[in-house]
Amino acid sequence: MGTVVLGTGSCLPGKILTNVDLESIVETNDEWIRSRTGIEERRIAGKGEYTYKIAADAAKKALAAAGVSASEIGLVVLGTISSHMLMPSSACFVQNEIGAVNAFSYDLNAACSGFLYGLDLADKYIKDDHSMKVLVIGAETLSGRLDWKDRNTCILFADGAGAAVCGYSESDRGVIGSKLLSDGSLWKLLHMHAPKSYNPDLLVEENDGTFIQMEGKEVFKHAVRAMEDSVRGLLKKENVDLDSIDIFIPHQANIRILNNLIDRLKVPRSKVFINVSKYGNTSAASIPIALDEANSSGMISKGDTVLFCSFGGGFTWGATLIKW
Ligand code: UT7
Repeated sequence: MGTVVLGTGSCLPGKILTNVDLESIVETNDEWIRSRTGIEERRIAGKGEYTYKIAADAAKKALAAAGVSASEIGLVVLGTISSHMLMPSSACFVQNEIGAVNAFSYDLNAACSGFLYGLDLADKYIKDDHSMKVLVIGAETLSGRLDWKDRNTCILFADGAGAAVCGYSESDRGVIGSKLLSDGSLWKLLHMHAPKSYNPDLLVEENDGTFIQMEGKEVFKHAVRAMEDSVRGLLKKENVDLDSIDIFIPHQANIRILNNLIDRLKVPRSKVFINVSKYGNTSAASIPIALDEANSSGMISKGDTVLFCSFGGGFTWGATLIKW
């Protein structure tokens, strides 16, 4: 008995930016990007494809897959760090776009962990009120939040959206548990300033632009360790054996982080879903996009134990287990 995913959907902008395309933007090359990140190409939002637009498109697909109408949704929670406005939230724009007239809606800022944090919220709301249906979305248009002269970041991050409709099931399926963590003391290693303050007393001295800034090597080390710890901690807490995991869907940060994590956890590679080569790092959208691809391609069956884990700016990180 618990919170189940009733349907998934995703939306990837049509415009593809390959590594070779990037060679004419910054000093980089296809071979370097492939070997250091595993990324071959990524999607970039086109005219009018704001975060809420691609989020709404993913949401509509998830609703259709779930056989749930927008008016049945009680909450829209959208993990994002790349809204086109600070207020209203992108979640409110999504609500309006899809006609979720009975929902309350808000954005959630947990960077790349946004979808797992949202799923945890959905689980709590649904456990409290079994009639509740929650739309959990992760969506980003990070192409608008990159310094395209910074080859450390612009080769890595990209755009996309994924969504899941969650509801209650009387069966033995559902969210088993999650272990979510954060550490604000390390914020500087991966951050993005807000627009400059109009109150001179609140100006942030080092604010040199509203784009992602990253200490790649440090983030790498923390990401591998943190994701491993959260997975091990969650499995222990829920008394679940790693061998009983049917499919592992990690945040698609980059292939070397994933390879390190897989080696440390000793999960068979055949159980790990990886699509980072096609989409790059889409932050909060990466897990729901991967989930939708795995789900719609028939890789996940009812009753399977699905493991997720994430790591992102904050730092935020965590792991979630679902009996599908
Ligand atoms: O969701 C979590 C988000 N963050 C991440 O997933 C990022 C984690 N970090 C990383 O994935 C890696 O640190 C990067 C892929 C960002 C960078 O890889 P690295 O192996 O840590 O490279 P590096 O920064 O140590 O740079 C190595 C060399 C340097 O040249 P020298 O000093 O050895 O001559 C860089 O200048 O590679 C150079 N370099 C590049 N060359 C071509 C750095 N970026 C590039 C580039 N193209 N894009």
